[in-house]
Amino acid sequence: MIMTTVQWTSDLSVGDRSIDDDHKGLFQLVDELSHANMSHDYINVILDRLKKYTIEHFSREEVYMKKAGFPGYEDHIKEHANFNEWLETIRSTYARFPQSPFIIGDSVNGYLQRWLRHHILTEDMKYRDFILSQKKS
Ligand SMILES: [Fe+2]
Repeated sequence: MIMTTVQWTSDLSVGDRSIDDDHKGLFQLVDELSHANMSHDYINVILDRLKKYTIEHFSREEVYMKKAGFPGYEDHIKEHANFNEWLETIRSTYARFPQSPFIIGDSVNGYLQRWLRHHILTEDMKYRDFILSQKKS
């Protein structure tokens, strides 16, 4: 299992409080996941929370980017779609093999940690930088 402490820090702020709060929630979830004892019930709870997160957070972010006229909007939506696809694959895999919560838990944890780093640090920062540059000019 990957053991780590995952924390949101203010340098990760995208400049919007609701989106930052969503991100904090995701960091918390990943942190919790990396310290959890994987059980069948727990995996189901995590997968449900992730699904809920995906629906609420992605749509909030997409509205925010669109309003700002962010030119990377379409590419960013593809990143969200890739995440949704991954989540659906994990959910259906787990529904078929519910006897392996440890394997699924580790795989979810590893993917989320990589995704957090890449998505927030690289992709979300692109719209933050764009919106900041618009405000300055
Ligand atoms: Fe995003």
